[in-house]
Amino acid sequence: MANIETFAQETRIFPPPAAFAKTAAISGMDAYNALCAEANSDYDGFWGRLAREQLTWHKPFTKVLDETDAPFYKWFEDGLLNVSYNCLDVHLQNGNADKVAIVFESDGGDVVKVTYQQLYEKVCRFANGLKSLGIKKGDRVVIYMPMSVEGVVAMQACARIGATHSVVFGGFSAKSLQERIIDAGAVAVITSDEQVRGGKRLPLKSIVDEALALGGCDCIKNVIVYQRTGGNVTFNPGFDLWMHELVANQAADCEPEWVSAEHPLFILYTSGSTGTPKGVQHSSAGYLLWAALTMKWTFDIKPDDVYWCTADIGWITGHTYIAYGPTAVGATQIIFEGIPTFPNAGRFWDMIQRHKATIFYTAPTAIRSLIKAADADEKIHPSQYDLTSLRLLGSVGEPINPEAWMWYHKHIGAERCPIVDTFWQTETGGHMITPLPGATPLVPGSCTLPLPGIQAAIVDETGHDLPNGQGGILVVKRPWPAMVRTIWNNPERFKSTYFPPEFGGNLYLAGDGAVRNKDTGYFTITGRIDDVLNVSGHRMGTMEIESALVANPMVAEAAVVGRPDDTTGEAICAFVVLKRSRPTGDEAKQIAKELRDWVAKEIGPIAKPKEIRFGDNLPKTRSGKIMRRLLRILAKGEEITQDISTLENPGILDQLKEAQ
Ligand code: PRX
Repeated sequence: MANIETFAQETRIFPPPAAFAKTAAISGMDAYNALCAEANSDYDGFWGRLAREQLTWHKPFTKVLDETDAPFYKWFEDGLLNVSYNCLDVHLQNGNADKVAIVFESDGGDVVKVTYQQLYEKVCRFANGLKSLGIKKGDRVVIYMPMSVEGVVAMQACARIGATHSVVFGGFSAKSLQERIIDAGAVAVITSDEQVRGGKRLPLKSIVDEALALGGCDCIKNVIVYQRTGGNVTFNPGFDLWMHELVANQAADCEPEWVSAEHPLFILYTSGSTGTPKGVQHSSAGYLLWAALTMKWTFDIKPDDVYWCTADIGWITGHTYIAYGPTAVGATQIIFEGIPTFPNAGRFWDMIQRHKATIFYTAPTAIRSLIKAADADEKIHPSQYDLTSLRLLGSVGEPINPEAWMWYHKHIGAERCPIVDTFWQTETGGHMITPLPGATPLVPGSCTLPLPGIQAAIVDETGHDLPNGQGGILVVKRPWPAMVRTIWNNPERFKSTYFPPEFGGNLYLAGDGAVRNKDTGYFTITGRIDDVLNVSGHRMGTMEIESALVANPMVAEAAVVGRPDDTTGEAICAFVVLKRSRPTGDEAKQIAKELRDWVAKEIGPIAKPKEIRFGDNLPKTRSGKIMRRLLRILAKGEEITQDISTLENPGILDQLKEAQ
């Protein structure tokens, strides 16, 4: 509600700068409206035209959209293509072989530039190496890598041979990795000896060893290790292979595997409302079409741009807007190994200055923490850096509050660069609701309007449209090419999660609440409507964290809720009942620490609760249902003023006020 009120009061409007609009891919609202009208009048024709224009097909498709098995929609199904061919070979044929594809900057500041020709050769050599191990079309390969050129090479090499990759973020624990390996039934893991972040070396290979030792991973035939630091690792010759040895004698060309448009390009696990993460499966052609097109529409990418997305390849943003989108359009992009605060919190601004970045895409959490850092130390304030190369800014992953938006606009964009606040999800494959920088007048805090062809709407609990100004549930009314195809191993869960029968079974349910402005129709996302938290732009399922907590032998019961946090958007707050009596004082602090470390081990450090509170019980109704509504109020530190007459044990509320 707070969000809705803030938005309703927001009157600042920033029209696109004339110079930007002049050369933009979509210039002016008339051009935007014309594309929307084209999609509305001939949906198949619209998408078919774009797929023919944007992608290079080995065999053209004859049918655009097949809805016979809805909601398992199929796009361009009888067409054949290869994603890696579309991201690499086409640029060598277009005279861009020597264009820089990747400017890689290590944590320590070393810079390596890789041209499209070099990237092509690296991908082909590695693809041949994977083939030499017997890895083939349809096999699943888990990638557990640091931010690196090799990470992108690994993803593209899988795409080249038709293997389906599943990237697991390098911050996930051995247990999370093991669960994903088993669910995907992967034949190999690609990892590195260590990763380097913020001046520290962190293990990766040893976590893979630990994951495999947990058992159930007999499907894995090899672990391929990129040597990043040369640190000590346990090596099991024959089973473990060095990446540099595997590629040493491989040919620098590799005939791509031509796959159907619907061939699974990747699986990416993400949190949902239950204890187990969902393997979101994407397609090849529809996904790539949207990755390429949104690079042009939303980022207005031009041949001379130096584009930088700060996401990690372990998340969907790193898939679409690092590994695939920028390469599909032949862009030059920066890939950064490290963290924004090392060696100091001016690192991003320093890198923009040195590499003359023109497009910068980051998360509101990063912006908010850098605002604090800049306020505290003027030496690293953005005003100390030359940021004049920038022409466009982007935001992703969580709502950007108007104050952070204004700071970004003023101090990074010098009031000259449009900001694209891009709303989308792991499941949507690419941007859904976002301003177009040469067309859409911007309003801080609003992701504005759906992209052409995206039929976003706001409905009530019965699936009926709500008028502008009324908050409700965000849905998408028609399928689009980049949408999730299924949940790996669980098509039923796919149907019930995203196309629930209560909504007629044909509306895609995003899982977010939203409201449209009365006058402009602009969308503002009001946050998740399910049990999913958004911490620093990362999705965390409350059930997943609860399951991890109750797996600890000390814990009898746990309930996890989110509370607003100035920097991370939301923070994780856990209410815990131990099997023994409720601890207090230093002992409570000690146990809270143990439980935090436990969650880090079960899921990963990103899931560590910020706060743990102990009680002899949790607030429950007479039928035993935990009243999470009350826990949310307690987590915020607010007084409970509501009616608690249905509560079985009101005395418990006082105990739960104290955080550890
Ligand atoms: O709640 C929305 C929020 O992030 C969720 C998707 O998370 P994930 O699949 O991890 O993908 C993040 C990167 C695309 C959404 O359901 N979200 C994402 N972008 C925005 C946002 N909320 C508000 N504004 C955004 N721009």
